Amino acid sequence: MLPVQAACALLSLAPLLVLGVPPIGTQPEQVHLSYPGVSGFMIVTWTTFNETESKVEYGILGGRVFDMTAKGYATLFLDSGEEKREMYIHRVTLTGLKPAAAYVYHCGSDEGWSDVFFFIALNDSTSFSPKFALYGDLGNENPQSLARLQKETQLGMYDVVLHIGDFAYDMHEDNARIGDEFMRQIQPIAAYVPYMTCPGNHEAEYNFSNYRNRFSMPGQTESLWYSWNLGSAHIISLSTEVYFYLEFGLKLLFKQYKWLQQDLEEANKPENRAVRPWIITMGHRPMYCSDDDQDDCTKFDSFVRLGRNDTKPPAPGLEDLFYRYGVDLELWAHEHTYERLWPVYGDKVYNGSKEQPYVNPKAPVHIVTGSAGCRERTDRFNPNPKEWSAFRSTDYGYTRMQIVNTTHIYLEQVSDDQYGKVIDSIWVVKEKHGFSAWV
Ligand SMILES: [Fe+2]
Repeated sequence: MLPVQAACALLSLAPLLVLGVPPIGTQPEQVHLSYPGVSGFMIVTWTTFNETESKVEYGILGGRVFDMTAKGYATLFLDSGEEKREMYIHRVTLTGLKPAAAYVYHCGSDEGWSDVFFFIALNDSTSFSPKFALYGDLGNENPQSLARLQKETQLGMYDVVLHIGDFAYDMHEDNARIGDEFMRQIQPIAAYVPYMTCPGNHEAEYNFSNYRNRFSMPGQTESLWYSWNLGSAHIISLSTEVYFYLEFGLKLLFKQYKWLQQDLEEANKPENRAVRPWIITMGHRPMYCSDDDQDDCTKFDSFVRLGRNDTKPPAPGLEDLFYRYGVDLELWAHEHTYERLWPVYGDKVYNGSKEQPYVNPKAPVHIVTGSAGCRERTDRFNPNPKEWSAFRSTDYGYTRMQIVNTTHIYLEQVSDDQYGKVIDSIWVVKEKHGFSAWV
C-alpha cells in the first residue's frame, strides 16, 4: 500500500478509533478529606467510574515522599437517575498520624493516581485553637464564594470546613453528574482540610442517596448525624430534614432525637464538659431567621424549634433540648443570607448584659450562614425583624470561627461581594458552661 493510501485508510478508521477508546474510568477524582474524630486519623474519600483498588500513599512533608501506604475499600454507588450511573466511592482511613504534622498524599491505585495534596493532621489536644470556615448553600452554578474559599484554604487559614447543608443544587441532577462536578469544584478545599457536612433539603432526592454515599462522616449513620471533638469543643452535626421528609420515616426523627439526648448527656458529664466546655451544633434549617420567604424559621412555631404536633406521636423540637443541655452556639444555613442573633430562647432575648451581650450570655447564640452562593441567588429580609435579630446581610459570603480556648470563641462574617471585607464580628465569652450558666 502506498503511504498516501495507507494514510487515507487510517483516516477513514479515525472515528472508529476514537469511539473505541474506553473512558479512563480508573482515574481518581473528587478527592476529599474528613476527620473521624479520632486523634491522628484522617479519612480520604474519592470516586472512580470503574472498580479499582483503594490506596493512599503518603508521607510527612519534607520527608521521603509516599513512604507509607494505607489500603481501604470501595463501595458501588448506583445512582437512581434514568441512566443508573455507577460510581465507586473509595474510602481509606489513615491512622497514627503525628499531631499537627503536615502530610503529602495521593490516592488511587496502580491504574491511576490523583494529584498530590497535603493536609495537617488533627489531634485531640484540648489546648488546640482550631480555625473553621462555615457556610451552607454552596452550589455548582453561581458558587460566588468558592474561589476565595479555595485560596484561603490553600493559604492555611482553616483547619476544618463545616458545610452546613445544601450542596451542588442538586447532586442528583443530570444523573448525578452535577454531584460529580460539585465534588470536583470543592476538591481544591476538601482535599486539604476535613470537609465536615450535614444534610440539607437539596440532598433529599432518592432518600439523600447522593449525600449518604459521597461523604464519610464519623459514626454509623451514613453521615446523617454524628458528633466529634476538636480543641475545647464538642461539635454535633444533625439532620433538620427528618422534620420535613416524613416519607423517609418518622422513626428517623425519633432516632436522631434520642441520639442527641444521649450525646448531650455524655458531653455534659462533668469530666467531659470540664475539658470540652463548648457545645456547638450544626444543622441546615434554622430555628429563627428574619427572611421574607415563609420558610420554617420565619414562623413562630417552627418545626425545628418546637417540633410537630401533626405526627403520631408528636415530634419534639430541638430548642428545649439544646437549652436544657447548655448548647453554647448553634450554626445554621438554608436562608441565603447571613444573620447573627442575640442570645435567644423561647423567642426572647437573653443577653449577658446590655453592654456585653455575648459575655456570659443567658441563652444559646445562633448564627445563620447560607450565603456562600448558588443558582437560587440570595434571599431577602423581612423589613421588620424581631428583637433577637442583631445583624444581617444579604451579601454573598461565609463565616470564620476560631475556638480560641475554653472561654473564648471568635466569629466573623466575610463578604465576598465586598472582596473579602469582614462585615461583622463577635467574641462569645463564657466563664461558665452548661444549663447552670443560664441562670
Ligand atoms: Fe436549604
